[in-house]
Amino acid sequence: MSGGRTLDGEVVVSGAKNAALPMLAASILSAEPLRLGNLPDLRDVHTMLSLLRILGAVVDGAAPGSASVRLAEPKSFSAPYDLVRTMRASILVLGPLLGRFGRADVSLPGGCAIGARPIDMHVNALRSMGAEVEMRGGYISARSNGLRGARIDLPLPTVTGTENIMMAAVLADGDTVIENAAREPEVRDLADCLNAMGARISGAGESRIRISGVGQLRGAEREILPDRIEAGTYLVAGAMTGGRVALRFRGELALGEVLAALRNAGADVRRGEGFVELDMGGRRPRSVNVATAPWPGFPTDMQAQFTALNAIASGHALVRENVFEQRFMHVAELRRLGADIEPLGREVLIRGVRRLQGAPVMATDLRASASLVLAALVAEGETVIHRVYHMDRGYERIEDKFSGLGAEIRRV
Ligand code: EPU
Repeated sequence: MSGGRTLDGEVVVSGAKNAALPMLAASILSAEPLRLGNLPDLRDVHTMLSLLRILGAVVDGAAPGSASVRLAEPKSFSAPYDLVRTMRASILVLGPLLGRFGRADVSLPGGCAIGARPIDMHVNALRSMGAEVEMRGGYISARSNGLRGARIDLPLPTVTGTENIMMAAVLADGDTVIENAAREPEVRDLADCLNAMGARISGAGESRIRISGVGQLRGAEREILPDRIEAGTYLVAGAMTGGRVALRFRGELALGEVLAALRNAGADVRRGEGFVELDMGGRRPRSVNVATAPWPGFPTDMQAQFTALNAIASGHALVRENVFEQRFMHVAELRRLGADIEPLGREVLIRGVRRLQGAPVMATDLRASASLVLAALVAEGETVIHRVYHMDRGYERIEDKFSGLGAEIRRV
């Protein structure tokens, strides 16, 4: 990539990865097909489809951007290590497999580049619903003769944990109440999908979710909501280059605190039905402090991108990571490009510099790789980003979309 271009143009926002993955897993809950539209073409989506095929699902993905998944006859109840190690979200099959078939074996995900990421809350919740769960040979092995509703108090509002519990509870006997549930828009989107399949879930999007078990679920057809993290990443690119970026999308785009942070950085942002437009008018962004938190707080998945923005902004900023304990792998790489960032435990202090310089850098995880692309957009000379496969897990056609905005970017 070569930096220095002012971005100007339009981007069509893809369907949300973190809504697509749980909804694909939800297809396990019915013997009838679940058809999903606005399905993004991402490595993680393909990994989830491979996993569903291993379980016995028939996937009909004829049209680009949509797939129909049907699991009539299970062939396996096991999510193997080879898939789980490339995508932690494979854990999302645990709840639906246990809910519909009474058995699931999912390889333990282990650590990853953003922290230890335990799954104790998923396991404890399933145990309180009557499942027997053991760790054996690197696998979580769960069995039940019929789950029963329970009251589950989550110590932290875990996103995939909340989704797993909802999917386990929809076919359970009686009511399940999740307290301190994750409130992310993707949790609500999954609940809407499950309700369209015949589930009885209320309160999704709030801290208390109630699920009344039903006998069986049917097929359904759903559109996946737009990806708020992809959208936010392109808006930050517009702000960093002093440019103008217009986003187009179908459905509701929940940007929350990200919009406020962009306005604090000095961007003019307009929004209306199906579009958001950011105009920086050639200005250099101002530093913005951010502290990540579960929704409706500032998303951890946008932290790396705002670290990159602050690296070239006027002033000093503190960026605090409250959700994952080790999500600052991008900092060392941004420093290689000339950023002035001082790590202070769970915070970093960033002194904005006027210019970054291109250099070879290494992507370590999905959002870290996005922050390196953003930094490369404003770095003098050429930046070569290694291990871009991390990016393909969560950004659809990223080089086409950036080229369309006028960036000099090429896959080598
Ligand atoms: N946690 C536990 N025990 C558990 C589960 C979670 O201690 O059993 C802790 C985690 O270690 C973390 C906190 O709870 O400190 C919150 O993690 P959460 O479980 O909410 O994260 P997740 O469900 O594994 C999802 C997204 C992530 C996103 C986080 C936070 C999906 C598929 N993944 O992960 O997305 O960062 O929520 O919003 O929805 C990404 O897209 O780049 C990504 C990493």
